[in-house]
Amino acid sequence: MKKTIIGIAAFALSAFSVCNGAEIATMNEPYRPHIHFTPQAHWMNDPNGMVYHNGEYHLFYQYYPEGTTWGPMHWGHAVSKDMMSWEHLPVALYPDSLGYIFSGSAVVDVNNTSGLGTKENPPMVAVFTYHNPKLERSGSNVFQYQGMAYSLDNGRSWTKYSKNPIVPNPGIRDFRDPKVSWNEQTQKWTMVFAAADRVRFYSSPNLLDWTFESEFGEKVGAHGGVWECPDIFPLKVDNTGKTKWVLFVSINPGGPFGGSATQYFVGDFDGKQFHPDNTETRWIDYGKDNYAGVTWANVPKTDGRTLFLGWMSNWQYAEKVPTEAWRSAMTLPRELSLIPSKEGYSLVSQPVKELDAFRQNEIKMAVKQVNGSKEISTTVSPVQLKLTFAVNQKSGKQFGVKLTNSLNEEVVIGYDNEKKQLYMDRLKSGKVDFSKDFPAVTYAACPVENGKVELSVIIDEASVEVFAQQGKVVMTNIVFPTQSYSKLLLFSEKGKTKVSECKIWKLKTNR
Ligand code: FRU
Repeated sequence: MKKTIIGIAAFALSAFSVCNGAEIATMNEPYRPHIHFTPQAHWMNDPNGMVYHNGEYHLFYQYYPEGTTWGPMHWGHAVSKDMMSWEHLPVALYPDSLGYIFSGSAVVDVNNTSGLGTKENPPMVAVFTYHNPKLERSGSNVFQYQGMAYSLDNGRSWTKYSKNPIVPNPGIRDFRDPKVSWNEQTQKWTMVFAAADRVRFYSSPNLLDWTFESEFGEKVGAHGGVWECPDIFPLKVDNTGKTKWVLFVSINPGGPFGGSATQYFVGDFDGKQFHPDNTETRWIDYGKDNYAGVTWANVPKTDGRTLFLGWMSNWQYAEKVPTEAWRSAMTLPRELSLIPSKEGYSLVSQPVKELDAFRQNEIKMAVKQVNGSKEISTTVSPVQLKLTFAVNQKSGKQFGVKLTNSLNEEVVIGYDNEKKQLYMDRLKSGKVDFSKDFPAVTYAACPVENGKVELSVIIDEASVEVFAQQGKVVMTNIVFPTQSYSKLLLFSEKGKTKVSECKIWKLKTNR
């Protein structure tokens, strides 16, 4: 568990509380992303309560409004029409006598099963973990329990439920992060949350009274750290009539490159028990910076997408990253899908199509081949690249794209044609020494498909997200160049590599 820090960052506080003009100034600080969500000021971790309602995507988030490191948790709040440009709203949930407001989820109780609203004006219901620091200090094991709050005005104001907690703690130290969803099959609500080294499933007809159903995960999957922030949801398998259930479980530490990361299981869920198809560990992202992500609730059936957002940081260094007024950004919103694969079924993540509306002029580079290195652009953040390499055994041993600046700082996004791996190297990316765990080369198995390696790369001021082979392999890493990257280079080492497509889109900025 993280330390409680009550210090007040005076600069950050003033940046937060003053009028619009000053806020705009704040939005231009070094490392402030152009197209990723950040709080205006202060500390943020997990996305919470992601729910769509009345034309708005809501994003709540773990927030400490008095400092730039983790502290007594509140739920910050923002809304968006496209998950890309956000309007900041006042803090939604404050700590109270039952504890801090840890991670959780929100739903729209469309049929008013809770009776807390009406059919005409259904309540938005937030279910979260209360973390009670006094009980924790007293040595008790029951300091985390699930609570609830509801809103009848589109999430603008919240009433805590008078009979909290709705799920008391039976004596398990780590007992947190409820994700609630409506199960069409059982016509009941499902709650999944993390309980020590496993997840627990509960069901309820009304969001108020919960029945324990089962648990999953003891000795299954990765267990290098505590389990946190699970999510369970059905996904249609592309090009089949099938639906499978996907269970996300975040874990900290124990990720593939150290620290925090999110694993997933594919299987079946009957509203009571989860049966995995297989139990090997699989990660949703092979970078270091995608944690505690979950899916949006209540996305209209006419839309039908499964939409995801993660926290773009890692507990190893989140409190040390070199931003001043705020700490942490979210990943780009992503659409999830499932495809049949040799493992059974595999998860695919792609940036949401709303990103396309941010594309400005398309630059199509007439590069046919690369041998050594070749500059392709001097505009970098925010930018999207689509690169397709035609690959065979004679192609370069390593090829890809580099971001650099005049200080020779660089991020390398490459394909290792011997190991058949995608990799990203941020060892010399700029400021890296604020934590020994920050410098890293991340990599993932990434087979050549039909003689091609296709990369979609989204570069913002302090992050690089790579979606390889149409989202089958994903890598998200944050970076802190001393000076913004100013050049994009294609490279191919130890051999020539054919480039069949090289497109660059400068992206609009939200700053
Ligand atoms: C995950 C997490 C959650 C917890 C929250 C506290 O990053 O540790 O398990 O609810 O952060 O801020």
